[in-house]
Amino acid sequence: MSRIDCLLRAMTLEEKLGQLNLVTAGQAVTGPVVCGDTTKDICAGRVGGVFNLWGLDALACAQRSAVEETRLGVPLLFGLDVLHGHRTIFPIPLAETGAFDSRLWERTARAAALEAASEGIHLTFAPMLDVSRDPRWGRIAEGPGEDPLVGEKFAQAKVRGFQGDDFSRFYPLAATAKHFCAGGAATAGRDYAAVDVSERALHEVYLPPFRAALEAGCAAVMTAFNNVNGAPMAAQRRLLNGYLRRRLKFDGVIMSDYTAIAELVEHGVAADSVEAAAIALKAGVDMDMVSGVYLAHLPEALDRCLVDMRDIDAAVARVLQLKDRLGLFDDPYRVVRLDAGAKETHRRLALEAARRSATLLTNRGLLPLSANVRRIAIIGPLADAGADMLGPWSAAGGAENCVTTFAGLRRALPNCEIAHHSGVAIEGDDESGIAPACALVKGADAVVLCLGESAGMSGEAACRAALGLPGKQRQLAERVMSAGAPTVALLFCGRPLAVPWLFERAQAVVAAWFLGDRAGEAIADILTGRFNPSARLAVTWPQEVGQVPIFYSARSTGRPFDAANPYTSRYLDCSNDPQFPFGHGLSFSRTTLSNLRVDCAELNTSQPAKVRVDVRSESDIATEETIFLFARDRIASVARPLIELKDWTKVALQPRETATVDFALSAEAFQFPGEDMEPVVEPGDVDIFAGLSADPDRLLSARLRIVCA
Ligand code: GLC
Repeated sequence: MSRIDCLLRAMTLEEKLGQLNLVTAGQAVTGPVVCGDTTKDICAGRVGGVFNLWGLDALACAQRSAVEETRLGVPLLFGLDVLHGHRTIFPIPLAETGAFDSRLWERTARAAALEAASEGIHLTFAPMLDVSRDPRWGRIAEGPGEDPLVGEKFAQAKVRGFQGDDFSRFYPLAATAKHFCAGGAATAGRDYAAVDVSERALHEVYLPPFRAALEAGCAAVMTAFNNVNGAPMAAQRRLLNGYLRRRLKFDGVIMSDYTAIAELVEHGVAADSVEAAAIALKAGVDMDMVSGVYLAHLPEALDRCLVDMRDIDAAVARVLQLKDRLGLFDDPYRVVRLDAGAKETHRRLALEAARRSATLLTNRGLLPLSANVRRIAIIGPLADAGADMLGPWSAAGGAENCVTTFAGLRRALPNCEIAHHSGVAIEGDDESGIAPACALVKGADAVVLCLGESAGMSGEAACRAALGLPGKQRQLAERVMSAGAPTVALLFCGRPLAVPWLFERAQAVVAAWFLGDRAGEAIADILTGRFNPSARLAVTWPQEVGQVPIFYSARSTGRPFDAANPYTSRYLDCSNDPQFPFGHGLSFSRTTLSNLRVDCAELNTSQPAKVRVDVRSESDIATEETIFLFARDRIASVARPLIELKDWTKVALQPRETATVDFALSAEAFQFPGEDMEPVVEPGDVDIFAGLSADPDRLLSARLRIVCA
């Protein structure tokens, strides 16, 4: 009999329910309630996992209570939200996705995993895989952007990075794919609000990154808070037991999000906490995060025959199996040793990741700054804001490690006079600092405006109805730019900001996102030309919040916009175009694509086609370019999007170099959910496109015919 079977047979009901009880220690507060001191419950075997606690001594103390004080000595699982770093903080996921580099995504996850595991953490509540097309939603900052294929690749890279790829050995850090699913489509971009998406949208957009994560061996899944199409995710038997367990054969742990099981009462699907506990367990949720309703109310649910012991045993077995896969029964105090020099390696990686995640949005020739620049005025509330550079969900990171833009510029330009004034606060109505800030502009060779949001204005419970600059930052920016000195604006944000007036007036604008510990150095390297920016947008950038949701892979309409015909799809007060399309991003170099060709005219399910395109550097500096391959199935049983991303690749080019990049395109790449939602590949003509972004005016195209054998 296995260790798990022996334990299950020996456990009392309360000990079993204890394993399903996931409590917060409150070292970080990530929800509306905290659990207080849980030591007594741990010693009584009423706790299976603890999160929001880190540091070897604290974790060892809690683990001793579980292993040495309880009747059966079952070790605790320790979890934490390690999304983009543990101690060393990397760019927020929405920014890092813009590097379009799976290896980089995996490397930063591995660094974070080793740092967290070296402090006794077993499980991270990451990767966050919510595809989103709504920048009002603050959590867009945590995820992979708008595209499901990018979400899939991001998921696989992060799971490999956190868990390693040898599933047989215990992994540094177990990963949790969250938040299952479709929270990124919350009504009006508001956290926790209901989600109403079509079954088609679920299968085409929101489920694929989770499927990819589970195919990569992801150990756990966390349910979303939201009611999705009528059922709260913690009660979604069809998507939990149905899709995850039966269809995808997922045998890992499904946990609720913070108090989400208790919230089934508020959702209106459970009359009381007993029903809430029963509904969630029957739906497939194994661990109850923070609400305590499993521990307190499943006994009555058993008595009322709302659940049976088999349901409880199955959930407990999965939790014990996860602990076993983590090696906790053999070594409850396991700690992954960090190599000497690992921290320095991680800091170098943080600089590389930051450089490759900052997106140059516009540049009228001001950047890179001239080497002759002698005086710079750096103005704005984010010029010297260390803590904000970490962004939301910065785990055990700290502002003391962070290099701000002001500090980074001084290091990069030691002989340049750099005058700094914040001008205004990030939020608030005080404009008294604008005049003294503007005074610095006089005699400056260049102005660096540091504008945007605080770290707390994105992430959870940080949705915004407007996408402009908060506070009096616009007033500051307009007064500074009116002074006439060449101005580059840096936007520190967790979401695209709708500031068309800034793009019109500044000589250059960089999306500086929240780039982590090495933000200031990375930005200085870009401003001074030490690094040629290469990041591309993983999310469409709207002109106006009224365009949201706006994304490149929209379906056509029977009346596509026609300027000559008012009875077509358009606004009276704004064009349909985004400010910047998916994949947009400038470099100091210029690259051109040509000669898109396919090695065959017909594509069948047995033999992929080889697609090639020539890429040429038109510049005298080295560059790294991202080439996107899109496709459109013009005629299908279900209308397909105008263009869909099918693959991308990166190429490093020396000055004036021409390279040829290859894509292998299989018929399966044109698979889509048919009318019955089952995957189908249909014969017929398809167009393929190569581009440096999803800008429809700058795509090369070729045609292929899919023939089904
Ligand atoms: C929060 C978040 C979730 C996080 C969890 C634990 O409410 O929704 O992403 O992992 O609680 O901190």
